[in-house]
Amino acid sequence: KILILDFGSQVTQLIARRVREAGVFSEVYPYDVSDEFVRNYGAAGIILSGGPNSVTEGDTPRAPQAVFDAGVPVLGICYGMQTMAEQLGGKVEMGKVREFGYAEVRARGHTTLLNGISDFVTSEGHGMLKVWMSHGDKINEMPPGFKLMASTDNCPVAAMADETRKLYAVQFHPEVTHTLQGKAILGRFVHEICGCKSDWNMPDYIAEAVEAIRKQVGNDEVILGLSGGVDSSVAAALIHRAIGDQLTCVFVDHGLLRLDEGTMVMNMFGKNLGVKVVHVDATEQFMGQLAGVSDPEAKRKIIGREFVEVFQAEAGKLKNAKWLAQGTIYPDVIESAGKGKKTAHTIKSHHNVGGLPETLNLKLLEPLRELFKDEVRELGVALGLPHDMVYRHPFPGPGLGVRILGEVKKDYADLLRRADAIFIDELRATKDEEGKSWYDKTSQAFAVFLPVKSVGVMGDGRTYEYVVALRAVQTQDFMTAHWAHLPHDLLGKVSNRIINEVRGINRVVYDISGKPPATIEWE
Ligand code: XMP
Repeated sequence: KILILDFGSQVTQLIARRVREAGVFSEVYPYDVSDEFVRNYGAAGIILSGGPNSVTEGDTPRAPQAVFDAGVPVLGICYGMQTMAEQLGGKVEMGKVREFGYAEVRARGHTTLLNGISDFVTSEGHGMLKVWMSHGDKINEMPPGFKLMASTDNCPVAAMADETRKLYAVQFHPEVTHTLQGKAILGRFVHEICGCKSDWNMPDYIAEAVEAIRKQVGNDEVILGLSGGVDSSVAAALIHRAIGDQLTCVFVDHGLLRLDEGTMVMNMFGKNLGVKVVHVDATEQFMGQLAGVSDPEAKRKIIGREFVEVFQAEAGKLKNAKWLAQGTIYPDVIESAGKGKKTAHTIKSHHNVGGLPETLNLKLLEPLRELFKDEVRELGVALGLPHDMVYRHPFPGPGLGVRILGEVKKDYADLLRRADAIFIDELRATKDEEGKSWYDKTSQAFAVFLPVKSVGVMGDGRTYEYVVALRAVQTQDFMTAHWAHLPHDLLGKVSNRIINEVRGINRVVYDISGKPPATIEWE
């Protein structure tokens, strides 16, 4: 396995993903782990990530000395390269020119890492790499023992290596797709230099995970809050594969779910997979608590609180349960381990419905803790979950509660559910030349209920009914998003169907705001 030490770059997670795509397991830890941790980790190789700091300033992060003394190959990327240079006796200086984005790098010398890899060859016969560069500092003097591996005009040392000690460093980012040969370079590092085999794949992972779950829980019973979302569904399928009837899932319907969600979940898990699922219809309790409340944050808090209460009451009935299973995935783990990096404002309190009610006194079982989202999906398919469910858009914990503006009422939720289902149906029904639907091409799409009435005309009569807004966005990380340029014909069809089929709605509008300044959800 490969150990990645994180110096705070935005793209550190991508290093782990690329290495895993090369079939080698890898994990991310903060840069300030102890020497002992590094020595005991058992890494076949270590990668030092990029980061926002400058090694030329005092008190900036350094790699544990054990990284260089452990005798395993090391690859420094960007900041990781500079701290390697500095720590091993080279000289780093604050550069006059900063370089961000596309660059062409000339590969020099014959090193195992870059030998024979290039995107094009110049008329002088130099092999060139197209890369994504980002740096302010530059290395003026390589540490003793290092050879130049690549350069650009602005960056005389764009890559360097000490092959006898198997220390490699690149100034550019091989983990991003803009670096065309990045995958090949990382693949070469882990396979040829570190000697790792490609043994990270789903079928093997399932077998190992099943074994581990059995060992961990023994004969104990396990309880899991099933939401119908990807993570909890895959966790349920995996745990069920391991321990069968020792698992009980609790599915809480707060009355703010998508159309037929309850039936879908009960059919898929209860009927098809034979998982024990307790279906709790708590619609009335939630609606009662939400009556008269229109502030978005207050609504979120109520929904979160009630959820915990209902879940806890159900869990209390399962006297033998010793474990609470959760669909925590790797990005959640890395994020909560990141030190003080998240200083952003709380725009919305994204409580995680299904979060651990601590008073339950249950031990935590988190079988997806090591997996990235795309791996979780792959796992879900391998466990027999339908493709459509595993590739669903995300759905917020408070559900339609934040898609009905202001006070939540059951009637509103019923109208919204039907409008939303029509929109999603029509998105799924489209197909482009590559066979992709607009549902696949958008990251999140849904309808929003506006509790305002407008005048319309239907047949010979005047109508005075509610408005529905459609929202569809494209995004990589949900932090920023573009509104999707859906074809007008498609929007027209959706609008027609909603107004004709959902009595109570006579106007449909399309939201064309980006994030920022708008958010994805309306509340
Ligand atoms: P915003 O609206 O903040 O949404 O642009 C970004 C992503 O977060 C989801 N979201 C939530 N998820 N509880 C959740 O579990 C919440 O309260 C919540 N609010 C927003 C939203 O659906 C989008 O994917």
